[in-house]
Amino acid sequence: MAQQIVRCTHIERELSCFLEQFNPDGIFLLTDENTDKLCFSRIQSVTKLQFAKKIVIAAGDENKNVETISKVWQFLTENGASRKSLLINLGGGMVTDLGGFAAASFKRGIPFINIPTTLLGAVDAAVGGKTGINFNGLKNEIGAFAPAVAVFIDASFFQTLDHANLLSGYAEMLKHGLLGEVREVGEVGGLTDVLGFDFDDVDYKKLNDLLFESVMVKERIVLEDPTEQGIRKALNLGHTFGHAFESLSYQRKRPVLHGYAVAYGLVCELYLSFLHLNFDKKLLLQIARFVKENYGKFAFDCNDYPQLVELMRHDKKNENGQVNFTLMHAVGVVEINQTATVEEIFETLDFFREY
Ligand code: GLY
Repeated sequence: MAQQIVRCTHIERELSCFLEQFNPDGIFLLTDENTDKLCFSRIQSVTKLQFAKKIVIAAGDENKNVETISKVWQFLTENGASRKSLLINLGGGMVTDLGGFAAASFKRGIPFINIPTTLLGAVDAAVGGKTGINFNGLKNEIGAFAPAVAVFIDASFFQTLDHANLLSGYAEMLKHGLLGEVREVGEVGGLTDVLGFDFDDVDYKKLNDLLFESVMVKERIVLEDPTEQGIRKALNLGHTFGHAFESLSYQRKRPVLHGYAVAYGLVCELYLSFLHLNFDKKLLLQIARFVKENYGKFAFDCNDYPQLVELMRHDKKNENGQVNFTLMHAVGVVEINQTATVEEIFETLDFFREY
Protein backbone atom coordinates (compact mmCIF):
# COMPACT_ATOMS: atom_id res chain seq x y z
CA MET A 1 0.00 0.00 0.00
CA ALA A 2 1.41 3.41 -0.96
CA GLN A 3 2.16 5.80 1.86
CA GLN A 4 1.28 9.42 1.44
CA ILE A 5 4.56 11.36 1.60
CA VAL A 6 3.76 14.93 2.58
CA ARG A 7 6.43 17.48 1.76
CA CYS A 8 5.81 20.15 4.38
CA THR A 9 6.18 23.87 4.03
CA HIS A 10 3.96 24.72 7.04
CA ILE A 11 3.63 21.53 9.03
CA GLU A 12 0.79 22.80 11.25
CA ARG A 13 -1.28 23.57 8.18
CA GLU A 14 -0.53 20.29 6.38
CA LEU A 15 -1.13 18.26 9.53
CA SER A 16 -4.41 20.10 10.33
CA CYS A 17 -5.65 19.47 6.84
CA PHE A 18 -4.80 15.75 7.06
CA LEU A 19 -6.45 15.35 10.48
CA GLU A 20 -9.64 17.11 9.30
CA GLN A 21 -9.91 14.72 6.37
CA PHE A 22 -8.86 11.56 8.21
CA ASN A 23 -11.14 12.34 11.13
CA PRO A 24 -10.08 9.65 13.63
CA ASP A 25 -12.21 8.92 16.71
CA GLY A 26 -9.20 9.61 18.94
CA ILE A 27 -5.66 10.91 18.49
CA PHE A 28 -2.65 9.55 20.38
CA LEU A 29 0.75 11.16 20.08
CA LEU A 30 3.91 9.19 20.81
CA THR A 31 7.18 10.99 21.36
CA ASP A 32 10.34 10.66 23.44
CA GLU A 33 11.50 12.98 26.19
CA ASN A 34 14.01 14.85 23.95
CA THR A 35 11.66 15.30 21.03
CA ASP A 36 8.91 16.35 23.39
CA LYS A 37 11.11 19.23 24.55
CA LEU A 38 12.62 20.18 21.20
CA CYS A 39 9.98 19.44 18.56
CA PHE A 40 6.48 19.10 20.00
CA SER A 41 6.01 22.89 20.14
CA ARG A 42 6.23 22.93 16.31
CA ILE A 43 2.88 21.14 15.99
CA GLN A 44 1.27 21.96 19.31
CA SER A 45 -1.02 24.65 17.90
CA VAL A 46 -2.84 22.23 15.58
CA THR A 47 -6.46 22.43 16.78
CA LYS A 48 -7.17 18.72 16.63
CA LEU A 49 -4.07 18.02 18.72
CA GLN A 50 -5.60 19.92 21.66
CA PHE A 51 -7.54 16.72 22.35
CA ALA A 52 -4.67 14.31 21.64
CA LYS A 53 -3.42 12.05 24.40
CA LYS A 54 0.35 12.20 24.62
CA ILE A 55 2.65 9.29 25.48
CA VAL A 56 6.26 10.26 26.24
CA ILE A 57 8.80 7.43 26.33
CA ALA A 58 12.48 7.38 27.33
CA ALA A 59 14.80 8.25 24.43
CA GLY A 60 17.50 6.00 22.99
CA ASP A 61 17.76 2.73 21.08
CA GLU A 62 18.30 0.85 24.38
CA ASN A 63 14.65 1.67 25.18
CA LYS A 64 13.29 0.30 21.90
CA ASN A 65 12.20 -2.80 23.74
CA VAL A 66 9.27 -4.87 24.92
CA GLU A 67 8.96 -2.97 28.23
CA THR A 68 8.51 0.35 26.43
CA ILE A 69 6.07 -0.98 23.84
CA SER A 70 4.10 -2.65 26.58
CA LYS A 71 3.66 0.78 28.24
CA VAL A 72 2.39 2.15 24.92
CA TRP A 73 -0.14 -0.70 24.52
CA GLN A 74 -1.19 -0.16 28.16
CA PHE A 75 -1.74 3.55 27.55
CA LEU A 76 -3.74 2.90 24.39
CA THR A 77 -5.93 0.38 26.22
CA GLU A 78 -6.49 2.56 29.29
CA ASN A 79 -7.38 5.55 27.15
CA GLY A 80 -9.89 3.78 24.96
CA ALA A 81 -8.02 3.65 21.64
CA SER A 82 -10.03 1.91 18.94
CA ARG A 83 -9.30 0.75 15.41
CA LYS A 84 -10.56 4.15 14.25
CA SER A 85 -8.03 6.01 16.41
CA LEU A 86 -4.81 7.42 15.01
CA LEU A 87 -1.32 7.18 16.49
CA ILE A 88 1.07 10.00 15.57
CA ASN A 89 4.75 9.09 15.95
CA LEU A 90 6.85 12.22 16.42
CA GLY A 91 10.56 11.48 16.68
CA GLY A 92 13.60 9.75 15.23
CA GLY A 93 13.88 6.15 14.07
CA MET A 94 13.45 4.74 17.57
CA VAL A 95 10.03 6.39 17.99
CA THR A 96 8.76 5.64 14.47
CA ASP A 97 9.96 1.99 14.63
CA LEU A 98 8.46 1.32 18.06
CA GLY A 99 5.33 3.41 17.52
CA GLY A 100 4.75 1.83 14.11
CA PHE A 101 4.89 -1.64 15.63
CA ALA A 102 2.72 -0.63 18.60
CA ALA A 103 0.08 0.58 16.12
CA ALA A 104 0.49 -2.40 13.77
CA SER A 105 -0.10 -4.86 16.61
CA PHE A 106 -2.70 -3.06 18.77
CA LYS A 107 -6.14 -4.58 18.10
CA ARG A 108 -4.48 -6.20 15.04
CA GLY A 109 -3.65 -2.82 13.62
CA ILE A 110 -4.65 0.80 13.99
CA PRO A 111 -3.61 3.60 11.58
CA PHE A 112 -0.51 5.65 12.30
CA ILE A 113 1.43 8.51 10.78
CA ASN A 114 5.10 9.37 11.15
CA ILE A 115 6.62 12.80 11.68
CA PRO A 116 10.40 12.17 11.59
CA THR A 117 12.48 14.70 13.48
CA THR A 118 15.93 13.48 12.41
CA LEU A 119 17.35 13.35 8.90
CA LEU A 120 18.19 9.65 9.29
CA GLY A 121 14.63 8.95 10.41
CA ALA A 122 13.12 10.94 7.53
CA VAL A 123 15.19 9.36 4.81
CA ASP A 124 15.03 5.81 6.12
CA ALA A 125 13.16 4.56 9.20
CA ALA A 126 9.94 6.56 8.85
CA VAL A 127 9.35 5.49 5.24
CA GLY A 128 8.82 2.00 3.89
CA GLY A 129 6.82 0.24 6.59
CA LYS A 130 9.53 -1.56 8.56
CA THR A 131 8.48 -1.38 12.21
CA GLY A 132 9.80 -3.19 15.25
CA ILE A 133 11.66 -3.41 18.52
CA ASN A 134 14.92 -4.96 19.73
CA PHE A 135 14.67 -8.26 21.59
CA ASN A 136 17.14 -10.50 23.43
CA GLY A 137 20.04 -8.25 22.43
CA LEU A 138 19.11 -8.46 18.73
CA LYS A 139 18.22 -5.34 16.78
CA ASN A 140 14.73 -5.17 15.24
CA GLU A 141 14.19 -8.84 16.06
CA ILE A 142 10.42 -8.51 16.57
CA GLY A 143 8.38 -6.42 14.17
CA ALA A 144 6.10 -6.20 11.18
CA PHE A 145 5.91 -4.65 7.74
CA ALA A 146 3.26 -1.98 8.27
CA PRO A 147 3.27 1.26 6.29
CA ALA A 148 2.28 4.53 7.93
CA VAL A 149 -0.80 6.12 6.38
CA ALA A 150 1.28 9.23 5.82
CA VAL A 151 4.78 10.54 6.51
CA PHE A 152 5.20 14.29 7.05
CA ILE A 153 8.66 15.49 6.03
CA ASP A 154 9.77 18.89 7.23
CA ALA A 155 13.49 19.71 7.00
CA SER A 156 13.17 22.56 9.48
CA PHE A 157 13.16 19.96 12.26
CA PHE A 158 16.74 19.16 11.31
CA GLN A 159 17.98 22.67 12.10
CA THR A 160 18.51 21.57 15.70
CA LEU A 161 20.60 18.55 14.64
CA ASP A 162 24.34 18.68 15.12
CA HIS A 163 26.70 18.29 12.17
CA ALA A 164 27.41 14.61 12.87
CA ASN A 165 23.72 13.64 12.98
CA LEU A 166 23.07 15.59 9.80
CA LEU A 167 25.88 13.70 8.07
CA SER A 168 24.64 10.41 9.49
CA GLY A 169 21.28 10.84 7.75
CA TYR A 170 22.95 12.13 4.62
CA ALA A 171 24.76 8.81 4.10
CA GLU A 172 21.40 7.17 3.34
CA MET A 173 20.72 10.00 0.87
CA LEU A 174 24.03 9.24 -0.82
CA LYS A 175 22.90 5.60 -1.05
CA HIS A 176 19.58 6.64 -2.60
CA GLY A 177 21.47 8.93 -5.02
CA LEU A 178 23.38 5.86 -6.21
CA LEU A 179 20.27 3.71 -6.46
CA GLY A 180 18.08 6.28 -8.19
CA GLU A 181 17.88 6.44 -11.93
CA VAL A 182 20.35 8.60 -13.78
CA ARG A 183 19.05 12.18 -13.88
CA GLU A 184 19.23 14.77 -16.62
CA VAL A 185 21.83 17.47 -16.00
CA GLY A 186 20.24 20.13 -13.78
CA GLU A 187 17.44 17.87 -12.50
CA VAL A 188 17.25 17.96 -8.70
CA GLY A 189 18.24 14.90 -6.71
CA GLY A 190 20.78 13.20 -8.95
CA LEU A 191 24.09 11.92 -7.64
CA THR A 192 25.92 15.07 -8.79
CA ASP A 193 23.60 17.19 -6.64
CA VAL A 194 24.01 14.85 -3.69
CA LEU A 195 27.81 14.93 -3.94
CA GLY A 196 27.77 18.72 -4.35
CA PHE A 197 26.00 19.53 -1.08
CA ASP A 198 27.89 22.02 1.10
CA PHE A 199 27.95 20.97 4.74
CA ASP A 200 29.91 24.07 5.78
CA ASP A 201 26.97 26.27 4.88
CA VAL A 202 23.84 24.11 5.07
CA ASP A 203 21.01 25.29 2.83
CA TYR A 204 17.91 23.71 4.47
CA LYS A 205 15.68 24.51 1.50
CA LYS A 206 18.06 22.62 -0.79
CA LEU A 207 18.31 19.82 1.78
CA ASN A 208 14.51 19.55 1.77
CA ASP A 209 14.46 19.29 -2.05
CA LEU A 210 17.17 16.61 -2.08
CA LEU A 211 15.55 14.78 0.80
CA PHE A 212 12.19 14.60 -0.92
CA GLU A 213 13.76 13.17 -4.10
CA SER A 214 15.73 10.74 -1.96
CA VAL A 215 12.65 9.52 -0.11
CA MET A 216 10.90 9.00 -3.45
CA VAL A 217 13.75 6.68 -4.56
CA LYS A 218 13.14 4.58 -1.46
CA GLU A 219 9.37 4.70 -1.82
CA ARG A 220 9.55 3.47 -5.44
CA ILE A 221 11.70 0.50 -4.44
CA VAL A 222 9.49 -0.34 -1.45
CA LEU A 223 6.33 -0.23 -3.55
CA GLU A 224 7.84 -2.81 -5.90
CA ASP A 225 8.80 -5.16 -3.06
CA PRO A 226 7.29 -4.14 0.30
CA THR A 227 8.39 -7.25 2.23
CA GLU A 228 11.97 -7.49 0.91
CA GLN A 229 11.70 -10.67 -1.12
CA GLY A 230 13.87 -9.24 -3.89
CA ILE A 231 14.61 -5.74 -5.15
CA ARG A 232 14.11 -4.04 -1.76
CA LYS A 233 17.47 -5.60 -0.91
CA ALA A 234 18.90 -2.82 -3.09
CA LEU A 235 18.39 -0.62 -0.01
CA ASN A 236 20.97 -2.76 1.79
CA LEU A 237 23.74 -1.25 -0.36
CA GLY A 238 26.63 -0.33 1.93
CA HIS A 239 25.07 -2.09 4.89
CA THR A 240 26.96 -5.43 4.97
CA PHE A 241 30.33 -3.75 5.49
CA GLY A 242 28.52 -0.88 7.27
CA HIS A 243 26.95 -3.08 9.95
CA ALA A 244 30.29 -4.85 10.52
CA PHE A 245 32.04 -1.48 11.05
CA GLU A 246 29.20 -0.33 13.32
CA SER A 247 29.31 -3.52 15.42
CA LEU A 248 33.11 -3.37 15.69
CA SER A 249 32.90 0.24 16.83
CA TYR A 250 30.46 -0.77 19.60
CA GLN A 251 32.65 -3.70 20.65
CA ARG A 252 35.60 -1.30 20.86
CA LYS A 253 33.49 1.14 22.90
CA ARG A 254 34.16 3.84 20.30
CA PRO A 255 30.73 3.88 18.67
CA VAL A 256 30.24 5.51 15.28
CA LEU A 257 26.84 6.79 14.17
CA HIS A 258 24.89 4.45 11.87
CA GLY A 259 25.20 6.72 8.84
CA TYR A 260 28.95 7.05 9.22
CA ALA A 261 29.27 3.25 9.15
CA VAL A 262 27.00 3.18 6.08
CA ALA A 263 29.15 5.83 4.33
CA TYR A 264 32.27 3.68 4.93
CA GLY A 265 30.29 0.60 3.84
CA LEU A 266 29.27 2.31 0.60
CA VAL A 267 32.90 2.93 -0.32
CA CYS A 268 33.73 -0.73 0.35
CA GLU A 269 30.77 -2.13 -1.54
CA LEU A 270 31.41 0.13 -4.52
CA TYR A 271 34.97 -1.18 -4.57
CA LEU A 272 33.57 -4.73 -4.54
CA SER A 273 31.23 -3.62 -7.34
CA PHE A 274 34.29 -2.44 -9.27
CA LEU A 275 35.93 -5.86 -8.76
CA HIS A 276 32.85 -7.92 -9.63
CA LEU A 277 30.73 -5.80 -11.92
CA ASN A 278 33.11 -3.30 -13.44
CA PHE A 279 31.64 -0.29 -11.56
CA ASP A 280 33.29 2.90 -12.84
CA LYS A 281 36.60 3.43 -11.00
CA LYS A 282 36.53 7.23 -11.44
CA LEU A 283 33.13 7.48 -9.79
CA LEU A 284 34.24 5.10 -7.04
CA LEU A 285 37.18 7.40 -6.27
CA GLN A 286 34.96 10.49 -6.37
CA ILE A 287 32.60 8.95 -3.81
CA ALA A 288 35.51 7.68 -1.69
CA ARG A 289 36.87 11.25 -1.64
CA PHE A 290 33.47 12.70 -0.67
CA VAL A 291 33.20 10.21 2.20
CA LYS A 292 36.75 10.81 3.39
CA GLU A 293 36.35 14.60 3.32
CA ASN A 294 33.03 14.61 5.18
CA TYR A 295 33.05 11.47 7.35
CA GLY A 296 36.77 11.02 7.96
CA LYS A 297 38.16 7.49 8.26
CA PHE A 298 37.17 4.48 10.34
CA ALA A 299 40.20 3.47 12.39
CA PHE A 300 41.13 -0.20 12.09
CA ASP A 301 44.05 -2.28 10.84
CA CYS A 302 44.64 -5.63 9.16
CA ASN A 303 44.47 -7.48 12.51
CA ASP A 304 40.75 -6.55 12.57
CA TYR A 305 39.98 -8.13 9.18
CA PRO A 306 39.05 -11.62 10.48
CA GLN A 307 36.70 -10.10 13.06
CA LEU A 308 35.03 -7.91 10.45
CA VAL A 309 34.48 -10.97 8.24
CA GLU A 310 33.06 -12.83 11.25
CA LEU A 311 30.66 -9.96 11.92
CA MET A 312 29.56 -10.08 8.26
CA ARG A 313 28.93 -13.83 8.61
CA HIS A 314 26.43 -13.06 11.41
CA ASP A 315 24.54 -10.42 9.42
CA LYS A 316 20.82 -11.25 9.35
CA LYS A 317 20.64 -10.40 5.63
CA ASN A 318 22.67 -13.53 4.79
CA GLU A 319 21.11 -16.52 3.05
CA ASN A 320 22.31 -20.14 2.74
CA GLY A 321 25.32 -19.45 4.97
CA GLN A 322 26.80 -16.94 2.46
CA VAL A 323 27.60 -13.30 3.23
CA ASN A 324 25.13 -11.32 1.12
CA PHE A 325 25.98 -8.05 -0.65
CA THR A 326 24.06 -5.66 -2.82
CA LEU A 327 26.40 -4.43 -5.55
CA MET A 328 26.13 -2.11 -8.54
CA HIS A 329 27.02 -2.23 -12.24
CA ALA A 330 26.51 1.54 -12.52
CA VAL A 331 24.42 4.30 -10.97
CA GLY A 332 20.84 3.02 -10.88
CA VAL A 333 21.80 -0.52 -11.95
CA VAL A 334 21.82 -2.88 -8.97
CA GLU A 335 22.69 -6.54 -8.54
CA ILE A 336 21.32 -8.13 -5.36
CA ASN A 337 22.34 -11.41 -3.66
CA GLN A 338 26.05 -11.14 -4.47
CA THR A 339 28.79 -12.92 -2.57
CA ALA A 340 32.56 -12.40 -2.25
CA THR A 341 35.53 -14.48 -1.19
CA VAL A 342 37.40 -13.72 2.01
CA GLU A 343 40.38 -12.62 -0.15
CA GLU A 344 38.16 -10.11 -1.97
CA ILE A 345 36.81 -8.79 1.33
CA PHE A 346 40.39 -8.37 2.60
CA GLU A 347 41.39 -6.61 -0.65
CA THR A 348 38.39 -4.29 -0.22
CA LEU A 349 39.42 -3.46 3.35
CA ASP A 350 42.97 -2.73 2.09
CA PHE A 351 41.51 -0.33 -0.48
CA PHE A 352 39.35 1.35 2.16
CA ARG A 353 42.31 1.92 4.48
CA GLU A 354 44.62 3.16 1.76
CA TYR A 355 42.57 5.34 -0.60
N1 GLY B 1 16.41 0.41 5.72
C1 GLY B 1 16.23 -0.30 4.52
C2 GLY B 1 14.80 -0.64 4.26
O1 GLY B 1 13.90 0.00 4.75
O2 GLY B 1 14.55 -1.58 3.54
